Amino acid sequence: MRHLIDIKDLSVQEIDGLIQCAEDIIKDPLKYAQVCRGKKLAILFFEPSTRTRLSFEAAMLDLGGSVLGFSSAETSSASKGESVSDTTRVVGCYADIIAMRHPKEGAPLAAAMKSYVPIINAGDGGHNHPTQTLTDLLTIKTEKGRLDSFTIGFCGDLKFGRTVHSLISALSRYKNIKYVFISPPELKLPDYIKTDVLDALGLEYTEIERMDEVLPELDILYMTRVQKERFFNEADYIRLKDTYIFNEEKLKLAKDDLSILHPLPRVNEISPSIDDDKRACYFRQARNGKFIRMALIMKLLEVSV
Ligand code: NCD
Repeated sequence: MRHLIDIKDLSVQEIDGLIQCAEDIIKDPLKYAQVCRGKKLAILFFEPSTRTRLSFEAAMLDLGGSVLGFSSAETSSASKGESVSDTTRVVGCYADIIAMRHPKEGAPLAAAMKSYVPIINAGDGGHNHPTQTLTDLLTIKTEKGRLDSFTIGFCGDLKFGRTVHSLISALSRYKNIKYVFISPPELKLPDYIKTDVLDALGLEYTEIERMDEVLPELDILYMTRVQKERFFNEADYIRLKDTYIFNEEKLKLAKDDLSILHPLPRVNEISPSIDDDKRACYFRQARNGKFIRMALIMKLLEVSV
């Protein structure tokens, strides 16, 4: 039985296979409409979500399966004090696969250790978010036609942004990528990612504070929201939340074929006035999320067309 807790649980070949499968689903969705008939996906979300939860649900429904679960800790027995691993063990009696989001780093891993069914980490605290990474990789592949040889800028909350952490870990296995990390000093990438991922592999990266200096060099810009819910102090959040606002002025500095990604939700960091520019990929990215999750559910349930 396989789980997806960390993006590195998948080999590069498996990731490429999932991307290919998602591309095939996009071309011919009807072929996949019944492959999970009789199977159930449980959604255990202890933290808010729109895209991840609904794209998981839509993915299972489009595969012909069904969905059950809860979307907040308050409506589950967690509010009575039940442990995550007990909840998971019980839900494994009712469902064939589980997608879990939790505010505590490591909770899906703890759940997987006791689970009888595959567990998918749908975001654990400020740590990892591997299915967003699969979505991001599918988006880069469809927008750029490749997963290597580009300069990518990550901008915003690189400290708490779990999508950033997982995407760096995934990209570190592809060739010829330059990384630029744009953030205020307080929201810099955690040291463990620099030492364990980037330095360990001898990858080239720069850390800067101002976006304008590097914008003309970027092929991909990965914008992120300042993660309000992970701050200890509201005053710090208010001071930092609008550090970067990507708007039409900034767009003028960018390459014609820049791809702007954002896992969403956005707050102020991208002005809606650029949404219709062809370089704004974030709504196409959200759409991709359903297709790659369909491919992942099929893989973990070991079903095929
Ligand atoms: C992200 C998350 O939950 O980490 N959202 C998502 O899953 N698309 C990013 C965020 O909340 O800022």
